Amino acid sequence: MRSVPVRLSGSAYEVVVGWGLLGRLGDVGAAAAGLAGRRVFGVSDTTVHRLYGETLERGLRSVGANLVGWHQLQPGEAYKNLESLSGLWDALVAARLERRDCVAALGGGVVGDVAGLAAATFLRGVDLYQFPTTVLAMADSSVGGKTAIDHPRGKNLIGAFHQPRGVVGDLETLGTLPEREVRSGFAEVLKAGLLGDPDLFELLERRGPGVTADPDAVEEALARAVAVKARVVEADEREGGARALLNLGHTLGHAVEVASGYGVLTHGEAVALGTAFAIRVSAATGRLDAGQADRILGVLERWGYPVKLPGMSAEKVLDALGLDKKTAGGVPRWVLLRGVGAAEWGQTVPSEILEPLLREVQEDS
Ligand SMILES: NC(=O)c1ccc[n+]([C@@H]2O[C@H](COP(=O)([O-])OP(=O)(O)OC[C@H]3O[C@@H](n4cnc5c(N)ncnc54)[C@H](O)[C@@H]3O)[C@@H](O)[C@H]2O)c1
Ligand SMILES: [Zn+2]
Repeated sequence: MRSVPVRLSGSAYEVVVGWGLLGRLGDVGAAAAGLAGRRVFGVSDTTVHRLYGETLERGLRSVGANLVGWHQLQPGEAYKNLESLSGLWDALVAARLERRDCVAALGGGVVGDVAGLAAATFLRGVDLYQFPTTVLAMADSSVGGKTAIDHPRGKNLIGAFHQPRGVVGDLETLGTLPEREVRSGFAEVLKAGLLGDPDLFELLERRGPGVTADPDAVEEALARAVAVKARVVEADEREGGARALLNLGHTLGHAVEVASGYGVLTHGEAVALGTAFAIRVSAATGRLDAGQADRILGVLERWGYPVKLPGMSAEKVLDALGLDKKTAGGVPRWVLLRGVGAAEWGQTVPSEILEPLLREVQEDS
């Protein structure tokens, strides 16, 4: 079990990752201690609830928390919408949740985002505990306080900042996660290594995707990814500046998700594709030397991530880039690398550089 503190001006909490934690929350320390004696409302999706709902109930009992009800979302990004949020608000009203009660999110990033936004808004804010069950949610989405739902015109356009009071990632739950989800979640772990932890990147480079079968290495990799995210969020909680570093791979990644229609690629696959593209842009703009770029692209390839735009034209992607949320004044901003662990945010790149690079990654038709 590894614990990573997140120290923010208005709140501080622990993120714990380890094996078999969900059923014994009494053992995880500060990350779950605040649940003692509280009324807790559980939010999950139908898949994760069936698998781990009872285990979490046992864990909550072990810290003396009182689970007063469950709400189950339909699984998947397609349900990260206003209708799901509204259904959850209804459930919270029906359960008579009060200000001092709390919401427990059990699931992947979709559950965490919808439950998080509900917790941020219900009664102007109730406490939130995150129990992430995907690699992506453990390494990334459960930490840092961003919550959101999608708008038909773009991902994550409606949301709020609402920090959790504690995060407990039970690695045991990853045993039932489809291999594609495990692999694509590691794209955010690779991203964290590239951004701020060269040792993490080297671990994933050296061991390749086989690392996911090594319990100790998985724990180390996820805890290190959380630590990178925690450091970035501590420096810039509300994305006034440096938090944008976490968007490495996301400028193109989001554009590809929009242009292909959500669900063709997983979020992680889109991020991996976007990261590969950001590496190419970093090299083309003279930031990253060719040898380093090839090294990083080689690692992404070894992990089996898609390297070509899935059945879409460069034009369609350029169009989607113009609508990206991280656009300031109509110009997309990029996170680019000078080396592993040395990233620059807020960069603009002329379309004369982007267009030919996009054509290079267009699928042959
Ligand atoms: N808030 C943030 O800071 C932040 C950061 C990154 C990503 N996100 C969001 O996270 C979302 C993606 O999250 P995700 O990849 O976890 O997807 P997800 O929540 O949709 O989960 C993927 C699928 O796996 C299933 N599942 C989850 N855990 C399982 C388990 N242990 N065993 C078996 N099946 C399981 C789910 O039911 C779902 O069908 C996106 O909406 C993205 O925008 C948010
Ligand atoms: Zn992401």
